[in-house]
Amino acid sequence: MRDLLTTEGLARERLESLLADGEEFAEVMRRPIPKVPALRGKTVATMFFEPSTRTRMSFERAARALSADVLSFSPATSSLKKGESLKDTVLTIQAMGADLMVVRHTATGAPWRVAEWTRLPVVNGGDGAHQHPTQALLDSLTLRQRFGGLDGLRIGIVGDIRHSRVARSDVYAFATLGASVTLVAPPTLLPPDLTGWPVEATNTLDDVLTELDAVYLLRVQAERGGASVFPSLPEYRERFGMTRRRFARLKPDTAVLHPGPMIRGVEIDQEVADDPRCLVLDQVTNGVAVRMAVLFQLLGGERDA
Ligand code: NCD
Repeated sequence: MRDLLTTEGLARERLESLLADGEEFAEVMRRPIPKVPALRGKTVATMFFEPSTRTRMSFERAARALSADVLSFSPATSSLKKGESLKDTVLTIQAMGADLMVVRHTATGAPWRVAEWTRLPVVNGGDGAHQHPTQALLDSLTLRQRFGGLDGLRIGIVGDIRHSRVARSDVYAFATLGASVTLVAPPTLLPPDLTGWPVEATNTLDDVLTELDAVYLLRVQAERGGASVFPSLPEYRERFGMTRRRFARLKPDTAVLHPGPMIRGVEIDQEVADDPRCLVLDQVTNGVAVRMAVLFQLLGGERDA
């Protein structure tokens, strides 16, 4: 594997191997000195053409914990403002001696274009509403830690699936790892065509609520038009939010996940977000570990180190 661009078509063995390495790196990150020399001398470039809190910091933390250096590109203060093209930006960063590029972009497919232009490995850090493969890895690791594996789990992904790259990455990873996935959303927030998606779909959360082992809540992606297709946020909460009342109806060991940023009071009630069964901070912690696994595997790190 040269790049990590999508979870679609990723073999179970590859996913399991990344999760196994993720598990090991999670252990490294619990040590008093959470750092190993595995990628000493390597340089990871993070190129985020779209805002991010978690994903960028998580990749940079992962790179540094492996003793790699980080080249951090910020479009707002760059020569993109002077009209430099994406391609020239990529070639410039390659010429500076980067060894791997992490790319987030508003445009679907941008990381694939970058991978054509550069000889370096490329990791998709989220492209438009398309794919976000490291999110799927960290979600899978979190579920695996919680339930021992994904085989046979029933997972509901709830909310703005239409505009969600997280959902598009999660469904393939979860299904490949043996879970059955149910999408839950109003018709306007489901993709127009689900052909090829390994899922079932429903418009009514209350119909499936008590059968789910994990409920994965999505943010309403207003910046991609997600808020304009239903009447109001209070109505969204009423029908699709993980309210306190709905949370009380879940099976006692059902887990709640969310990729962040959470909008409390819309897709998740305050009390649910702070409940120990809400795994959102475990997801963040695991994000560093799985990104270490991805960087390590793509850069051929030294296992003994
Ligand atoms: C998500 C993203 O940017 O795709 N956040 C993340 O990476 N954890 C989801 C979102 O923005 O709602």
